Amino acid sequence: MKPIHILNGPNLNLLGKRQPEVYGHETLADVETRCAALAAELGVGLHFAQSNHEGAIVEMIHAARDAASAIVINPAAYTHTSVAILDALNAFNGPVIEVHISNVHKRESFRHHSYVSLRADGVIAGCGTEGYLLALRRVVSLLRAG
Ligand code: DQA
Repeated sequence: MKPIHILNGPNLNLLGKRQPEVYGHETLADVETRCAALAAELGVGLHFAQSNHEGAIVEMIHAARDAASAIVINPAAYTHTSVAILDALNAFNGPVIEVHISNVHKRESFRHHSYVSLRADGVIAGCGTEGYLLALRRVVSLLRAG
């Protein structure tokens, strides 16, 4: 099985420092460490990346077309604005799970709409950083179910 790509959008490099009352105290490096441990336990490869740039995220998704068996993506603010990220995900063939650390539906109304949800096979929101682990388990079970 090809690795699972976990992609993160803008400002998530500040995780742990940015609005900890909303996003918690863990850093993105902590999240990557936990995901890598779970991937090893599940016997799958993992590629973990973050960018603050929309075009770079589009290119990460293009790279995943050949290199990844599934994508877990937290597009952050681009969730609510980016047709380009939706189009790129529509050109990817494997499972896609959308993750939000916070419960976007409990927040401002502009966070209630997601372009990415038009493509995602599942959405996890409001489960904190544990959402990444839940998403990883879900893509592995989808891939194993064929
Ligand atoms: C987020 C929610 C988005 O609305 C926000 O712009 C983010 C993070 C989350 O993980 O809860 O940057 O995707």
